[in-house]
Amino acid sequence: MEKNKNIYIETYGCQMNMSDSEIVASILKDNGYRYTDDVMTAGVIFINTCSIRENAEDRVRKRLQYFKSLRKKNPSLLIGLLGCMADRTKTALMEEGQLLDLVAGPDAYRHLPKLLEQVGTGHRAIDTILSADETYADITPVRLDSNGVSAFISIMRGCENYCSYCVVPSTRGQERSRDAASIVRETRDLFEKGYREVTLLGQNVNSYSWNTGKHTITFSDLLAKVAGVDPLMRIRFATSHPKDISDALLKTIAANHNICRAIHLPVQSGSNHMLSLMNRKYTRENYQERISAIRQIIPGCAISTDIIAGFCNETEPDHQETLSLMDWVGYDAAYMFKYSERPQTLAADTLPNNVPEEVKDRRLREIIDLQHQLSLASNREDVGKTFEVLVEGKSKRSDNQYFGRNSQNKVAVFAKTQSGPGEYVMVKITGATSATLLGEVV
Ligand code: SAH
Ligand code: SF4
Ligand code: F3S
Repeated sequence: MEKNKNIYIETYGCQMNMSDSEIVASILKDNGYRYTDDVMTAGVIFINTCSIRENAEDRVRKRLQYFKSLRKKNPSLLIGLLGCMADRTKTALMEEGQLLDLVAGPDAYRHLPKLLEQVGTGHRAIDTILSADETYADITPVRLDSNGVSAFISIMRGCENYCSYCVVPSTRGQERSRDAASIVRETRDLFEKGYREVTLLGQNVNSYSWNTGKHTITFSDLLAKVAGVDPLMRIRFATSHPKDISDALLKTIAANHNICRAIHLPVQSGSNHMLSLMNRKYTRENYQERISAIRQIIPGCAISTDIIAGFCNETEPDHQETLSLMDWVGYDAAYMFKYSERPQTLAADTLPNNVPEEVKDRRLREIIDLQHQLSLASNREDVGKTFEVLVEGKSKRSDNQYFGRNSQNKVAVFAKTQSGPGEYVMVKITGATSATLLGEVV
């Protein structure tokens, strides 16, 4: 019987993982496999996993049980686990009721065709070795779930910041940057295919560094090069670490109209005691100084953040400092999480996970409630203003409406016009909720 070479990939976690799935699809396509978005037609199912919080891993385990039930009906179905859970759970998951045929870590994707062959001959296949230099620079990703307008480009891999709560340095290994020329080439290629927005991805893009042999290209240099591809190509990037977001970078953003006026600057906590236990390497005051610099150098720049509630030893005054800092910054948006202890982190090894669950829940709720008010206030300030919006597609609410984003990364919904996805329209804002701007094309 002919082997079923349809590959289905389900992705969990951050944008970096989404981007990796596109690399996986490309590698497999070059080796005779086809991507399918219908799990029922798949001969191989890959689940690209995330370890960042315990509930992320729980979701993956549930999905694996479901995939296993599919294999009961279709015994030749292969199931592989990719991504950040690979190394930590390889033995457990492989032994636990035969859930998996294959496990590959984030730096092992070039070996997938070989690993699949190995499985085909009745062997289980595991490769979770992390690399010091793999960046997949030469691989042109197959764009999955794409709207044809915006795409991700990975510019670096790994992380060596060792924030004490974070599993990423252990799941993704050493930090390394990707050849700048290949990033510019990929951007140009996307532009020619009709894309109008790229997001440059790394765990800490500010520490991007590429040595050409003659000189070193910093993140600020890279941004300027990518922005130079075409003024109609919008550039976004994530994530910036507050400890090294430089004035030079802010000035590069200010000087280029097509670099978006939106900076994601995760603060995690407003308390210096927490920031120190988290090993974030900045203080509340350093952070505030950086926010002031953004406001001064890039007027009209949106600022978003990540916050963790209930980290080790967090007291009520620590929590209040987080709320007061949120209020001081007036974030436009935030991702907010309850602290989840992760194995193989500094916090798990040296600090007590001692904030009771119900206190974590309450603090998180207070943080979310405050952010809701801040987002609403920020959006209401936009009523009456006119923004350039890149049309992304039909709005979920109505077939007669389009949605798109302004430079500040806010979603705007407006009545359909002649200009469709991939084109820019000027939208005057007439109303706002905490999540969306409503407007009309002018
Ligand atoms: N590299 C990025 C983001 C990495 S993960 C950065 O440094 O900002 C995204 C977010 O998940 C983090 O910013 C943090 O807020 C959250 N996070 C990471 N580890 C966590 C943990 N153990 N518990 C709860 N939230 C966590
Ligand atoms: Fe994790 Fe910190 Fe690295 Fe971000 S910078 S990935 S939070 S260790
Ligand atoms: Fe991303 Fe989750 Fe890994 S957030 S880097 S997929 S642990």
